[in-house]
Amino acid sequence: MDKIRIQGDHALRLKGEVRIGGAKNAVLPAIAASLLTSEEVRLGNVPRVKDVFTFLDLVREMGAVGDLAANTLSLRVRDLSSDEAAYALVRAMRASILVLGPLLARHGKAVVALPGGCAIGSRPIDLHINGLQRLGATISLEHGYIRASADRLRGAEIAFEKKTVTGTENLVMAATLAEGKTVLSNCAVEPEVSDLCVLLVKMGARIEGIGEEMIRISGVAELGGAFHDIIPDRIEAGTFLAAGGMTRGDLVLTGVRPDHMTTVIERLRFSGIAIDPAGSDGLHIVAGPVIRPQDITTSPYPGFPTDMQAQFMAMMTQAEGTSIITETIFDRRFGHVNELLRLGANIEVAGDKAVVRGKTLLSGAETIATDLRASACLVLAGLVASGETVINEAEHLDRGYERIEDKLKALGARIERISDRK
Ligand code: EPU
Repeated sequence: MDKIRIQGDHALRLKGEVRIGGAKNAVLPAIAASLLTSEEVRLGNVPRVKDVFTFLDLVREMGAVGDLAANTLSLRVRDLSSDEAAYALVRAMRASILVLGPLLARHGKAVVALPGGCAIGSRPIDLHINGLQRLGATISLEHGYIRASADRLRGAEIAFEKKTVTGTENLVMAATLAEGKTVLSNCAVEPEVSDLCVLLVKMGARIEGIGEEMIRISGVAELGGAFHDIIPDRIEAGTFLAAGGMTRGDLVLTGVRPDHMTTVIERLRFSGIAIDPAGSDGLHIVAGPVIRPQDITTSPYPGFPTDMQAQFMAMMTQAEGTSIITETIFDRRFGHVNELLRLGANIEVAGDKAVVRGKTLLSGAETIATDLRASACLVLAGLVASGETVINEAEHLDRGYERIEDKLKALGARIERISDRK
């Protein structure tokens, strides 16, 4: 398995320009949406990250034909050849659950492995299942698989008990081809949910309330092809902002949507980091001499994203004082803490809170991360830790970041990939 090796430096200052790619969590549902039509769906600004390739493997098994050339993905599912998402793929990527709604809606049948355990906490899918049942699906759980069937889904009024990103996406997709009107309330309002809705409208879906907590969908008989540019990845952008902040850097990010990152930008400014617009799609960040500590609580959009919690924690180890980070979305998303401790950080966890006392001069060490954002956190910490930091199992990083080591190297970091592939 690949490793990332960093020669860190307390005095490192990242400097330069970095281009941010398309959003992983927007492209995955967009690929799932291609299962809803027999016509071609073309997606632009697609990041070449591992989860995209895994999802492509999944839909190809279902009959999708097409390729990712540079950052444009063309997909066509003329006929569905399989309605089954096997355990091996679902286990590797929980987002595979996103095929459930589209398969049921177009094909009337779906067999999807139950995702099981996850490194960041218990992640049930009851809200997906209950919602599809409300749309008229018959669902049973057998031998670790969800077996779902329906003649034609029927519109219904469904209120999510809790906000769920992929749950909202699954139900919106299912409802586009259901008979009659569906009203979904307490929907997740993440920009990735809206991006999916925009694509579906281009495909011929009738959706009102995009970006709102109540989404109304009038089912249509069929959907057609479309072209759609995926929105920029606000988490990749936030990761580079945190990297710039903690290295007292001077960075320009291009290809971003600052309006999708208001809370993260506000929080960085609160820590003493100047962030200004640069051009039509850019942000210029100049960190001050001191990072101020602060308390952060993760919450659904537009709150502080759980997907930025680990990277922010790395930054807070460099703040002058005590910060409290509260994780409210996932119950085990502090996996990076023990690794940060190995680098010399001063962090105590009590329940859903981590108390980070700074500033600590970190020292490099060999580490291992068990999920994507925890790996990103260790990369950031490694940049400012003295000496060598090795991050094992870089595959986690590759799931959501395209060539992060090359991008950081271009900004002045001493970072490289050690590949064991011949
Ligand atoms: N939940 C339930 N029941 C359900 C679904 C969710 O109780 O049926 C709970 C979860 O356990 C969690 C909360 O609801 O406590 C929110 O989970 P959500 O369903 O919103 O998460 P998700 O859709 O599985 C997406 C992203 C995650 C991101 C979360 C939260 C994708 C493909 N994944 O997951 O991204 O952390 O929303 O914003 O969109 C990442 O990119 O690193 C990542 C993990």
